[in-house]
This record gives sequence, structure tokens and C-alpha cells, in this order.
Amino acid sequence: MSPVLISPSILSADFANLERELGAIATADWAHVDVMDNHFVPNLTLGLPIVESLVRVSPIPIDCHLMIEDPDRWAPGYAEAGARSVTFHIEAVADAVATARAIRAAGARAAFAVKPETPFAPYEDLLPEVDMVLVMTVEPGFGGQSFMADQMPKVSQVRDAVRRFGGEVWVQVDGGVSASTIEQCADAGADVFVAGSAVYGAESASAAIEQLRALATA
Ligand code: DX5
Ligand code: ZN
Repeated sequence: MSPVLISPSILSADFANLERELGAIATADWAHVDVMDNHFVPNLTLGLPIVESLVRVSPIPIDCHLMIEDPDRWAPGYAEAGARSVTFHIEAVADAVATARAIRAAGARAAFAVKPETPFAPYEDLLPEVDMVLVMTVEPGFGGQSFMADQMPKVSQVRDAVRRFGGEVWVQVDGGVSASTIEQCADAGADVFVAGSAVYGAESASAAIEQLRALATA
């Protein structure tokens, strides 16, 4: 299994001070950037020009989670902008294979995400085309929601499929991940953990990151 990666979500950060907020999570592995278009999800955050700027100032690699329509058109641009990992939603993509290949060709890791009501099994054949699968543990759109423990069987299902496939595909969880929920995610087979409010809502972001890492590694 790959090492544990902690990817704090800047959705819960101060958007007026993103360079400083990225500095606050410099001890994490990735900085998770949620791109929302107010169509795929009922919320609007930021897009390509801001991600380009974040890549330039971030002390750690950018993990871009695209909650947008038509990722076929937009996702490769985020890879070209320098995001280390680009995740599109399987519910939104028209050609997952072509989009994943375009992301990889632009030098990033490619991933697809599944919403809570979306099953994983129909997409198992995509594993050779991606570097990570994101299992959403809340409905995408907002930070600070309650963790959906009923998604843990899906995390295990993805982990089992990755084992059968035999390649190195990481399994990410996103939504409601905190000190009280991260262990069950790790037990189910996740190895990349997104946490927004649990990190930026803590008194010390770096202490929260270390606590999450320790709990996920134990
Ligand atoms: C939700 C986003 C998450 C969000 C997680 O749609 O994809 O990345 O920031 O926030 P928390 O950790 O507060 O649930
Ligand atoms: Zn996210």
C-alpha cells in the first residue's frame, strides 16, 4: 500500500489570503483545491487563473478536484497549469478514458470521483487509466458537512479492485474527514485523505495535519 497522504482542502481557508493559507499547511502532502462551477454543484469557488497562481506560490503540490460540467474540455488545462493531480467527476465526464489520458499527457496524475449515490463497479475497468479514485464521503458542494460512514463499503470495494488490478492506484476520501472519522477510512482502504474544516477550523493547522496523519497510519 502507498504511504498515507494528507490533503487539506482550502475550501475552508480564508480566500482573501490564499498564499498565507497554503503556507499554513506546508507540512501536508498536497493542497486540495475544490473547483466548483455552480452547475455540477450548487456552489461557485474558483477556476483556472486562480489555480495557476496557487501553483506558483504553493509550498506543496496542488490536488485539483473539479466539480464542474464538461471536464473533458477543462480538466487538461488544470494539468497544464501545474496541478499535480486532477480529479474529474465520473457523473460529468463524456469520455473518461480520453480525459484521463489528456491529464496524464499534460504531466499530472489523473483521477475520477464518484458521488455518494454513484456506484463504483461500472467504472472498475477504468483503473488502468487513472492514478487515483476519489470516493466522496459527503454530497459534493460544501465544506463542513457530516461524514457519510455508509460510503465505507465502496472504499473497500475500490481497494479490492485495485488489488485485483495490481497497479498503484490511490484511494482518496473527501468530506467530513476528521480525527473522529479518518481511522474508519484508513481501515476501509483509503490512503489519501482530504480534510477542510478539520484542518482550517483547528487552532493549529499543522497540529491537525499531524494528528490526522498519525491516526491514518496507526
Ligand atoms: C466538498 C469538497 C471538499 C470539502 C471538504 O464538496 O469536495 O473537499 O472541502 O470539506 P470538509 O472536510 O469540511 O468536509
Ligand atoms: Zn474536494
